[in-house]
Amino acid sequence: MANVNDMMDKLVSLAKRRGFVFQSSEIYGGTGSVWDYGPLGVELKRNVRDAWWRSMVHMRDDIEGLDAAILMHPRVWEASGHIAGFTDPLVECKNCHRRFRGDNADIQGGQCPVCGTREAFGEPRMFNLMFKTFMGPVEDTSAVVYLRPETAQGIYVNFQNVVTSSRQRVPFGIAQVGKAFRNEITPGNFIFRTREFEQMEMQFFVEPGSDDEWMEYWKAARRQWHEEVMGIRPEKLRFHEHGADELAHYAKRAFDVEYEFPFGWQEFEGIHNRTDFDLKRHQEYSGKKLEYVDPTDTNKRYIPYIIETSAGLDRTLLVVLMDAYREEEVEGEQRVVLRFHPRLAPLKVAIFPLVKKDGLPETARRIHDTFKAAGINSFYDDSGSIGRRYRRQDEAGTPFCITVDGQTAEDGTVTMRDRDTLQQVRISADAVVAYIQERVR
Ligand code: GAP
Repeated sequence: MANVNDMMDKLVSLAKRRGFVFQSSEIYGGTGSVWDYGPLGVELKRNVRDAWWRSMVHMRDDIEGLDAAILMHPRVWEASGHIAGFTDPLVECKNCHRRFRGDNADIQGGQCPVCGTREAFGEPRMFNLMFKTFMGPVEDTSAVVYLRPETAQGIYVNFQNVVTSSRQRVPFGIAQVGKAFRNEITPGNFIFRTREFEQMEMQFFVEPGSDDEWMEYWKAARRQWHEEVMGIRPEKLRFHEHGADELAHYAKRAFDVEYEFPFGWQEFEGIHNRTDFDLKRHQEYSGKKLEYVDPTDTNKRYIPYIIETSAGLDRTLLVVLMDAYREEEVEGEQRVVLRFHPRLAPLKVAIFPLVKKDGLPETARRIHDTFKAAGINSFYDDSGSIGRRYRRQDEAGTPFCITVDGQTAEDGTVTMRDRDTLQQVRISADAVVAYIQERVR
């Protein structure tokens, strides 16, 4: 266990030191399990989100994007089954009053893991994980609304709108990225389980009977994306199929994509066959037809089955951070480096003038500006030794560093240092933008 905490402590501390993730409202002592993304974190998160959007929406003709509101009609959550069933068993220690999930392995013997009291717990009560608030100025039951616990429902209720406006034909998908909220009983492990998080969800509508085949298709596609686009080590990824006792109320079959975190194999994406459960329920509760009518054969009408891919954006970011983290020895010195895929790195390149004189800062600034003009996130740094500047960029995960030195004025070349191989090559200052552009795609 010491190693697990050690690794997590190191990551949390690096994340804070370098401006990836800060505790929310830290100056007030912090808010439980809510986190803020700092200057590098917000870039990393955007890069993960953009890569997902590009693969899911821009690169495909059969998936449309959507951005539905967080607040929805309360009937949505009755239809979806969340009001009745989105619950976890909650128990409370009769001595210290700490609360736990009733299915938590640590409390199975009946002993409180915090104060040690034996036979500490009574019968669990079911606790609904949805956050509630009120719409409008009157706080009564007719004004109750929920913060959505998944983004998926915003897609289902817009199914007909998207079909009509985009003229897509089944099979096709709708993708969305957005905030979701769950009042988790036991959040934890940094940004792994939080109460406010973002999901990247895609709902793929298929003809009943073709659902098993599409499930296999999406399993393969998502695994390939994690390996090739996110650059996650394949040996750290696996699938876990849900047994009958794990399946959500809407699912016929479900697979978790798991990553081997320091605290064990854990899910960060779910691929679910939700059948026609959601659309059928919304049809029933709203009274509106949610059938799909095949335009080539209007006698063919059915409620499509749905294959869902549902990834947590924050959890994927934790996977990316974990997988990139390395401690290495370089020329007799320890370095901590984040080996992000260049496509995901918050800063793509750092520019250093070797010394603060002889016109080197001006040349370095000019190169920095050409990167900005090309839309490549670049960082200018002229403070401290070159070794220290490299170490700072290694911890930020910057894949390339450029040094402008005396030779630059003579032959127009700079040194380009590769974060992973540590190789340094001299290349023309005029060629650096193209060099980086090619490698960060
Ligand atoms: N629409 C289906 C759905 O929401 P889920 O398995 O409950 O399925 C999907 O959630 C993903 O959302 C998870 O794999 C995880 O990455 C992320 N997620 C769920 N609860 C979370 C939490 N409390 N904190 C951070 N991420 C969470």
